[in-house]
Amino acid sequence: MKFFLDTGNIEEIKRIVKLGLVDGVTTNPSLIAKEGRVFKEVIQEITSIVSGPVSAEVISLEVDGMLKEAHEIAEWAPNVVIKLPMTEAGLEATHRLAQEGIKTNVTLIFSVAQGLMAAKAGATYISPFVGRLDDIGVDGMQLIRDLREILDLYGLRSEIIAASIRGIGHVEQAALAGAHIATIPGSLLPSLWKHPLTDVGIERFLKDWEKVPKM
Ligand code: E4P
Repeated sequence: MKFFLDTGNIEEIKRIVKLGLVDGVTTNPSLIAKEGRVFKEVIQEITSIVSGPVSAEVISLEVDGMLKEAHEIAEWAPNVVIKLPMTEAGLEATHRLAQEGIKTNVTLIFSVAQGLMAAKAGATYISPFVGRLDDIGVDGMQLIRDLREILDLYGLRSEIIAASIRGIGHVEQAALAGAHIATIPGSLLPSLWKHPLTDVGIERFLKDWEKVPKM
């Protein structure tokens, strides 16, 4: 399973890149807004740190506008991926970009049907939002399981990015459900390598070490 960081924050990215855990990065307009910096500068800095795919989202809601933005963004770095919303216009733009060989990530997917449409249109990645489904009382992880089954059944080549991840359980369940990728908030990822028993264990080992005779 691959890990993407769901952030526009350079410090978070640099910290986790050092551990070899970052296969890519996803951003969205809300994450970019948090940084208070120019969109292009943030994306170019991220793409200079991370060699894997970096998703940058278009803002236009019409096909022509989406394509114009996509072509501009695609020039920013070779590893940039165009993120498009799951709408009719988003599907058309995804299809057109796929024909040009430009990688896409169709975002805001909340149903099996939407995921299937995006995959059929030629999306490189499809992003079902687990946490936001859980928020409204729908089992977000079931969507990941269903989409993986359908992609495999029909040989569709899109990769599933489990998005809107809220906790360690989501990451573990997404791995079991067959998500190709989990995109994890930069602030959450450090909790994945922590366990209270690990800390207690280290403390005990160090205490016992004091009893070992020194030369
Ligand atoms: C992923 O690409 C999305 O930008 C992100 O996971 C959304 O997460 P949220 O529901 O926590 O905003």
